[in-house]
Amino acid sequence: MLLELCKALADPCRLRLIAVLLNGEFTVQELTRIFAMGQSRISHHLKILTEAGLLEVKRQGTWSYYRASPTNRLFAALRPAFEPELELLPERSRDLTAVTAVLEERRRRSLEFFDRNARQWDDLARTLLPVPEYRQQLLAQVPAGSTVLEVGIGTGNLLLELAARGGKVIGVDHSPSMLEEARRRIAASGMGTVELRLGEISHLPLPDASVDCVVANMVLHHAAEPVAVLAEIRRVLAGGGRLLLADLARHEREWAREKLADQWLGFGAEELTGWLTTAGFTDVCCERLAGSAGQEAVLLVSAS
Ligand SMILES: C[S@@+](CC[C@H](N)C(=O)[O-])C[C@H]1O[C@@H](n2cnc3c(N)ncnc32)[C@H](O)[C@@H]1O
Repeated sequence: MLLELCKALADPCRLRLIAVLLNGEFTVQELTRIFAMGQSRISHHLKILTEAGLLEVKRQGTWSYYRASPTNRLFAALRPAFEPELELLPERSRDLTAVTAVLEERRRRSLEFFDRNARQWDDLARTLLPVPEYRQQLLAQVPAGSTVLEVGIGTGNLLLELAARGGKVIGVDHSPSMLEEARRRIAASGMGTVELRLGEISHLPLPDASVDCVVANMVLHHAAEPVAVLAEIRRVLAGGGRLLLADLARHEREWAREKLADQWLGFGAEELTGWLTTAGFTDVCCERLAGSAGQEAVLLVSAS
């Protein structure tokens, strides 16, 4: 085990791969772009690292995402000493720039989709991926009269129900067209207490510790980097604040990538709970709501 691990790490290219995959999940295609190397060379190095137990593969339909294995005990023990050294690799800043470009490409794809489909979004969502009813269960957990932030507001459906509960409501979305749809809906409802902001969920336009509750409804599976989004949500939550998150459970509807610009085919309950704990959340409670025939199961999560 030790020898395999040391041998796998004893290569400059594999050290760069590990440095990137310690902080994200990428497909082979994305890694070929990040490292500007051919697919067979990247696949060869990934195979060695995976066989040594340093990487694991997360399958999503026919796509495979590689990431550092969280279960390798030896590497976990070495990591605190090892990680700062990886930052000193000569190609590190070039690699980080290339990672940023790939993540930017994921975000751009989602933004273009929602800007193009804002008008017909509600119909698309209702007909293509129906889910069981969970909104009242989510709304019931929103602390009354608090400052609530909804991230990824879509056309503002849930936003209005949040505003109806009293308190200040802020909605953030990166798509100007979706914001416009939401603005229209809010104006028609006469609800004056909602504030809309254009912004990225991974860089929220809010100060630290400024809201009591964050609602993330069906947005995490569009995120380029879900882990970074959860850390960002934690940044804006005040002490004792609450995150209420609803998202698709793992599914195999591969067409959702094309038809709904989904980055992830849902999440596992364990995976999501682990990310929340890493991001510093406590009291994480994750309930799986199985749908009836033709509906996708939903994970309803609350965390402090
Ligand atoms: C599936 S819709 C969510 C609908 C909404 N939460 C609701 O309850 O009806 C996803 C929304 O998240 C927004 N979104 C996706 N990625 C985002 C990002 N990186 N930053 C900000 N908003 C994002 C999209 O523009 C879209 O409006």
